[in-house]
Amino acid sequence: MWQGVIERYREYLPVSERTPVITLQEGDTPLLPASNLSSFLKTDLKIYLKYEGANPTGSFKDRGMTVAVSKALDVKHDNAPVVICASTGNTSASASAYAARAKIKSVVLIPEGAIALGKLSQALIHGAKVIAIKGNFDDAFRVVKELTSRFDLVMVNSINPFRIEGQKTGAFEICDQLGHCPDYQVMPVGNAGNITAYWKGYKEWYGVKKIKKLPVMLGFQAEGAAPIVLGKIVKKPETIATAIKIGNPASWEKAVEARQESKGLIDSVSDKEIIEAYKLLAETEGVFVEPASASSIAGLRKLIKKNYFPRGKSVVAILTGHGLKDPDRAIAEIAKPVVLPPDIEVIAKEIGLS
Ligand code: F0G
Repeated sequence: MWQGVIERYREYLPVSERTPVITLQEGDTPLLPASNLSSFLKTDLKIYLKYEGANPTGSFKDRGMTVAVSKALDVKHDNAPVVICASTGNTSASASAYAARAKIKSVVLIPEGAIALGKLSQALIHGAKVIAIKGNFDDAFRVVKELTSRFDLVMVNSINPFRIEGQKTGAFEICDQLGHCPDYQVMPVGNAGNITAYWKGYKEWYGVKKIKKLPVMLGFQAEGAAPIVLGKIVKKPETIATAIKIGNPASWEKAVEARQESKGLIDSVSDKEIIEAYKLLAETEGVFVEPASASSIAGLRKLIKKNYFPRGKSVVAILTGHGLKDPDRAIAEIAKPVVLPPDIEVIAKEIGLS
């Protein structure tokens, strides 16, 4: 039975036999070959989709949160530990779920009016103390950093090294599922923890000889929130991909390191390209992701158009979050259903049967 990423990769994670393992059996997510998408994009690239939306709370954050929350319990605190994070939504959903399971308190700070409905409902139903900040993610994150420096709180944002440790298992899993290392990996970049984690994971797997080479890392930011691409902080980030609406990423240097060491790139895609990719993925492969995750596919498409890839290579696209996280976006982008009377003739005609 699958018991989550800590049990699966225990010897590569900073846990001991005494660590109380808090798990929702995260990980073991599908790695789907995407031949419909390859045909549509007229490419011979072997595209695989790592569907992290299939994690228990619907995003990749669970891989990191199982380790971060387990380790929070591992360390002695005067009272039961309290976890805290700033979030564009998914981290807060995951933190509050794992905290509930660990029977500890969680506090989440979110930018007011700027997180998707699904994510907000998750934090609330799991019983987190949810505080909406009049400001953006970067403001919320600054407050959380200050609070954790003054009070006995465990920050579970991705600058918590245990988050990175857990999330690196995504790289292990891809290599184990494929049987080798992909030539390229494409992913969204927001606060830049995940690209840091994947690159660490690939390097470790190479170090223990599980793979014979390393992949080229390709990261994509949203055009209106692309500080790493621009090389400067974006004071007022803007994008419909609210998960990656971040102007001053915490792991900026690490992301640049991953790009340089892997001879990859970090580029941006427009909201229009993100939405096109969002619909394309749902229509061609039956995979529903949230907009931020679709930036992987938008980026891939952009690079294919530029003839970036040599022939016959493989690429894994990280699809970071489930489409149901942000139902408002799907409904806004798609034509509304036709409304008809319950009349068989009228309906048969509408379907094109008569
Ligand atoms: N995709 C999704 C769905 C996300 O929620 C995030 C980040 C990213 C991509 C980018 O990952 O930050 O490691 O570069 N969400 C964070 C949050 C910021 O608060 O949920 P990153």
